[in-house]
Amino acid sequence: MTDSTRSFATPYRSHTCGQLRAGDAGIAARLAGWVHRRRDHGQLIFLDLRDRYGLTQIVVDATEAPEAHAVASRLRNEFVVSVAGTVAPRLAGSENARMATGAIELRATEVDLLSEARTPPFYINEPDAPIDEALRLRYRYLDIRREPMQQRLLLRSRLVHAIREVHHQQGFVEIETPNLIRSTPEGARDFIVPSRLKPGSVYALPQSPQQLKQLLMVGGLDRYFQIARCFRDEDARGDRQPEFTQLDLEMSFVDEAAVIGFVEDLVIRVTSTVLPERPILQVPFPRLTFAEAIERYGSDKPDLRFGMELVDLAPELTAADGSASSGFRVFDEALGNGGRVKAIVAPGMATASRSQVDELVELARSYGAKGLAWLAVEADGTIRSSIAKFLGEARTAAVVARAGAQAGDLVLVVADDPARTADVLGRLRTELAARLALADPKVLAYCWVTEFPMYKWDDENRRWDATHNPFSGVRPEDVDLLTTVSGDLSKLSPEDPAGRARALQYDLAMNGWELGGGSVRIHQRDLLERSFSLQGQTAAGMAEKFGAVLEAFEYGAPPHGGIAIGIDRWAALLTDQATIREVMAFPKTQSGTDLMLDAPSVPEPGQYAELGLRYVGPTRT
Ligand code: AMO
Ligand code: AMP
Repeated sequence: MTDSTRSFATPYRSHTCGQLRAGDAGIAARLAGWVHRRRDHGQLIFLDLRDRYGLTQIVVDATEAPEAHAVASRLRNEFVVSVAGTVAPRLAGSENARMATGAIELRATEVDLLSEARTPPFYINEPDAPIDEALRLRYRYLDIRREPMQQRLLLRSRLVHAIREVHHQQGFVEIETPNLIRSTPEGARDFIVPSRLKPGSVYALPQSPQQLKQLLMVGGLDRYFQIARCFRDEDARGDRQPEFTQLDLEMSFVDEAAVIGFVEDLVIRVTSTVLPERPILQVPFPRLTFAEAIERYGSDKPDLRFGMELVDLAPELTAADGSASSGFRVFDEALGNGGRVKAIVAPGMATASRSQVDELVELARSYGAKGLAWLAVEADGTIRSSIAKFLGEARTAAVVARAGAQAGDLVLVVADDPARTADVLGRLRTELAARLALADPKVLAYCWVTEFPMYKWDDENRRWDATHNPFSGVRPEDVDLLTTVSGDLSKLSPEDPAGRARALQYDLAMNGWELGGGSVRIHQRDLLERSFSLQGQTAAGMAEKFGAVLEAFEYGAPPHGGIAIGIDRWAALLTDQATIREVMAFPKTQSGTDLMLDAPSVPEPGQYAELGLRYVGPTRT
């Protein structure tokens, strides 16, 4: 069923403002909505009446309906009315092909004023007018009345609907897990809620339903999903909010291929249901190992809509015996110290002026680079470069050739430790592609990144942090690496074999964003305890933080795995938005406040006392 065939009839309306067509000419109809625009021609008043479904032109003629005309002459934009009348074809030549209802108008017999409206703080009827975001968030209900917001929220609703449909078809059980729980860490700070009945104790809001969904697998539900609200007390950014929504799912008796297979099929079906016109770059989705993604794109969430891959220049900078002797000290030192010298090619940017190149160098510095060397290949093939004087003519030409640069291109080179080289060039790649409009904005380039390392060394706390999820499984061939140099799990060091272990972890990326992440989990208690030990957990700490899962695993845990996909990010990417705020009805600002409800707020008098709390922080403003 579609909106044109659904019945919306109530005493206030017989049809919606988007429903009437030429074929309805002659019928009596009643519409309700907001006055979108009003044009007063004296005896004739034209109203564009708007609701979620569209716009319909109303004509109020003083000679046909004097009482209705009297009401209409008092109306202003955003007043709410219900109008009865007769559907009439528009006069030949005055049809509006851009309006779905543009072939007809409603000739009013009665206009009922339902609500008056103050002048809104911004135009509701100008979809393209720029509006200060703080003002939009302060009056979000008016912002939501605007067509672009309505379209995005409708798309989000269709997205969630399509997700639910696929899961139900595939035998998943939709379960709501509680929000008042114990900490379920995902690497952010917890939001906590003080308990009244147990003074001095707190609940934590879930950073994700991770532990609960694993317990549902121990509970034998086999296939679970949830449109789950998650809470993470971290700074809001374009792709991050303190409260957000995941499609969270978990499956039993699966390996990595089974989860990836289900999710890939889900993503393709949902995308083609919600946005059939948007092309998916490649099916099956490309799969890159973490190492390959970093090597080629300098990112574990690569944007595959364009090339501009990172090129290793070492072969042109090292002698036959492997020693670095390029003539440029910075490169030789980097290579001699286990670092990398890599490049990207910015197509057509050889004509950049000196100050434009300097700006790129500054940009690279802001990403953490020590410098940025460059080689510009002029239209006639001559090379201008910041490092030709060190490299000499032959090596300069060889570097340009290895980079794959053509006449007109600009080669940008970073020398640093492997991680920083990748990170700086990866970010430059993204930024330059945006400036040069290299990515087709219509294309959806989903891809999988697999074989993440299990752990990253945390020098400050002298422990191995899980790169993603503390419960992630380890690749079978790497199980024996879950140990330390000494074999004693309480003595951790950055040289431990654990640093080389790869996880059964997979991320779903799209157009340069991380859309989702998941893993096949460890389901054996002893192996999980081993992994937690490497993560610096003591036996007491494990029992306190993960006691329920560890105990449950003693009662017959099936092998299981799952994933969570950020619904806000997915909806933002599908609607081409730079921030997830644009696809959330009531998002928080960057500083975590709700400008409309004015939250967070100081509690009512007595609330602290009831909870056994006292405020001792700085004076409140
Ligand atoms: P992870 O922490 O990677 O995994 O989160 C999964 C996805 O959730 C989205 N996301 C966010 N979206 C908006 N604002 C945020 N602050 C935010 N944080 C995360 C991202 C991300 O890819 N329990 C695991 C999943 C699993 O292993 O099954 C988890 O939460 O799109
Ligand atoms: P200098 O000898 O310091 O003038 O540097 C010569 C060129 O090398 C300049 O274009 C610098 O930006 C660049 N450069 C310096 N350090 C690095 C580095 N670590 N990686 C890439 N280029 C660098």
